[in-house]
Amino acid sequence: MFSRRTVVYLTRCLSSIRTSASGQNESNLVPRSLPEPLVLAINGQINEEYCASYIYRSISYHFATSSVCLLGLSEFYRKLATEETEHAESLADFLLFRNNPVTLETIAKPPERKWSANIGKTLCETVELETKLSGSLSLVYEAAEKQRDVVLMDFLTKRFLRQQCDSLRTLQQLTTKWNQLAAAPDGTYQFDREVRKWIRSSGHLPK
Ligand SMILES: [Fe+2]
Repeated sequence: MFSRRTVVYLTRCLSSIRTSASGQNESNLVPRSLPEPLVLAINGQINEEYCASYIYRSISYHFATSSVCLLGLSEFYRKLATEETEHAESLADFLLFRNNPVTLETIAKPPERKWSANIGKTLCETVELETKLSGSLSLVYEAAEKQRDVVLMDFLTKRFLRQQCDSLRTLQQLTTKWNQLAAAPDGTYQFDREVRKWIRSSGHLPK
C-alpha cells in the first residue's frame, strides 16, 4: 500500500487538477481511471520488474553456493532482487489506486549461468538490464505524457526515474572497482569484501 506521505501527495496532485478544471476545489476526490494504453504499459512494466527480480535472485543464489561463496555479491544481488520486487508492487499499487486491474504475466526462466566465472561480464549484463528497465520506464512516462496524466508522470519521476539513475551510477562504480581489483591475485576475494563492506556501511546500496 502507499505510505501516508504518498497518499497525501497524490491527493494534492488530484486536488490541483480538479481545482484548475472546475474552478473550485472539490472535497470528494475520486481517482480517475487510467486509459487502456497506460494500463497496458504499467502492467508490462510490472512484468519487466518481476523478470529482473527473478534474474537477480538467481544470480544471488549462484554467488551464495558453497563452491562459489562470494557472499558480498550474493547480498548485493539479493538487494537488487528485493528492490525490483518492490518496484513491481509500487506499480501494482498505483494501478489499484487508480481503479484499474493488475494483470500478472508469466515470468521468464532466468538464464542458467556461472555468474562468478566472469564477474566483469556479470556486472556488464547487470548494467544492461538496468538500462533496459530505465528504457521501458521512460516509455511508460512518454505514454503518460501523451495522455497528459500528470499524476502518473509525477509518480514515475519521484518513485523510479531518479532511483534508476542512482542504481546505474552504483553499478558503474562497482564496475570500476572490479576493473581496479581484477588483476590482483586475490582480486575476486577483495572485491567481494569491498562490496560487502559497502553495503553494510551505507545501509542502502544499491539505492
Ligand atoms: Fe526497477
